This record gives sequence, C-alpha cells and structure tokens, in this order.
Amino acid sequence: MIELSNVSFIYQNGTKALKDINLTMKEHRFIGIIGPNGSGKSTLIQLLNGILLPTKGSVCIDGIYTTDNESLWEIRKNVGVVFSNPEDQIVTASVEEEIAFGLENLGIPHDEMLERVSKALEMVALKGKERVNPNNLSGGEKQKLVIGTVFAMEPKYIVLDEPTSMLDPYGRQQVTSMLPKLKEAGKTIILVTHHLEDLIKADEVVLMDEGRVISQGSLKDIFSQEEELKRHSLFLPDLLRLQIDEEVRRYIHTDSFLTVEEMVDTICQYQ
Ligand SMILES: Nc1ncnc2c1ncn2[C@@H]1O[C@H](COP(=O)(O)OP(=O)(O)OP(=O)(O)O)[C@@H](O)[C@H]1O
Ligand SMILES: [Mg+2]
Repeated sequence: MIELSNVSFIYQNGTKALKDINLTMKEHRFIGIIGPNGSGKSTLIQLLNGILLPTKGSVCIDGIYTTDNESLWEIRKNVGVVFSNPEDQIVTASVEEEIAFGLENLGIPHDEMLERVSKALEMVALKGKERVNPNNLSGGEKQKLVIGTVFAMEPKYIVLDEPTSMLDPYGRQQVTSMLPKLKEAGKTIILVTHHLEDLIKADEVVLMDEGRVISQGSLKDIFSQEEELKRHSLFLPDLLRLQIDEEVRRYIHTDSFLTVEEMVDTICQYQ
C-alpha cells in the first residue's frame, strides 16, 4: 500500500506544487490520476519512488518511508516508473538487450534473466522482435518496450506519467490495452492521463487541482460529477459518458470498447 500523509512539496524556485496531500493507494488496483496542467500530478508521481522527497509530510511504500536512504533501492525496485517519452528511457541497441540491461543492474542470475526477458516480451506483445533495434520500433512499440523493461524488474507498482501523450491513436491503443493485463499479472497500476477514456477499466480515480487532491473514488463516482470535472477544466468524452451510463450498461458490456469502431462492433454483436 502507498500512503501519502500531509505531503507538501515546494520546488526550489518557491512553487508550491503539492499542498497537504493525504492519499492511500491500495495494491492490485488500477488507479487513474487526472487533473489540469500544473495540478501537481507529475510531482506526485516523482514522490512515489523517491526521485523527489516531500518538503513536509511522508510518503510510505509498504511500510518503508522514501526518506529512508538505506531503503531507497528497495523502493525503486518496487515502484517502476514509465514517463511520456520512451526515447528518454531506452539505452541499448536491441529489444532483448534493453530488457536484460535493467536486470543486469539488479544482479539477476543469467538463467532467471532469460526467463524474465521472455516473460516480459510476451506480456508486452513484442515476441519476435528480440533482435530489433529500438530505433526501428514504432512509438507505441517503444513505449511497450519501456513497460516490458519495467515489468521484467518485477515491481509491485507500475506508475505511468502520460505514457501515451506522444503516441498516435494506434500507439495509444496499444499501450492502453496493456494496462489491464499488467493488473491481471498482479501489478498495481497508477496512470496519470489527460485522456479520460484511458481509464475505462480503472478501479479508482483521483482528481487533482492546484496541488491538492480534490476527490478520490470509483470511476463512476468521479466521472458522473460532470459539473465538478468541468470546474477543473476536464471534459468527459461522449464515448465515456455512454460507457458509464447505467441504462446502457444494463444492455451492453461497455468495458469492451475503447474506440468508436469497437463500440459499433460491440453493439452489432447484440443484435
Ligand atoms: N522543476 C520544476 N521547478 C519549478 N516548478 C516546477 C517544476 N516542475 C513543475 N513545477 C511547477 O509545479 C506545479 C505542478 O507541476 P506538475 O508538473 O507536477 O503538474 P502536472 O499536473 O504534471 O501538469 P501537466 O498536466 O502539465 O503535466 C506547476 O505549477 C509547475 O509549473
Ligand atoms: Mg505532468
């Protein structure tokens, strides 16, 4: 469990990015974090694995405080982070080397490493691309590789800060559809996104604004308060409004579509 207690964070230039945050994120859940630009989402993410330390209050991961220097390695192992630009996180010349590289740094024995690389490639659907140079992958595949690299390190929590913001719609779909699979594999997913429809399978949503947590609740709780979302400059896409509609849900399994095309396919199956 991740616990933030009375967390404030002030950047060196005096910007108060987080103000007295209290937040609990439980294991084995898919949690979405939303909020307008500058609301503190990325700052919060960087506090979760000790990249940043709170100015006030505490961040505690499974009983370990991020301020505990001796345990920082343990925390980094348990909380894997994926950022927007996969290019910033890729360092080697082939897909399999990339995944193995992180494991070498952890001192994983060779046989286990091969096994983990294979499992990760399967998880992110990059089997068959082992020898490909990451430069020759599509944007979506690059981001899947970064996710595979993080997955291979076997963290409990996978935190993603707008992982699809640099991808085209197909790449976005490739990455978004992977997240429920990671959850099924036992991971806790924390996703920061401006695309509210990416959260259709989320168990929980946290709404932030001006460095504060405004609300935390189920997808339906948060997304059914459209006026409140608008107050924080967030607008519910039509597709999502349809998906959370009680009446529609009674007739159609709305979780199975993420695009208009998939919605049409789903509805056609019901005829
Ligand atoms: N390195 C930094 N130095 C100073 N101020 C910063 C720094 N990074 C962010 N800020 C400020 O802290 C506040 C919170 O920024 P943060 O990047 O956490 O927001 P965000 O919710 O991730 O925004 P976005 O949706 O644009 O990514 C903003 O006022 C921002 O300008
Ligand atoms: Mg951000």
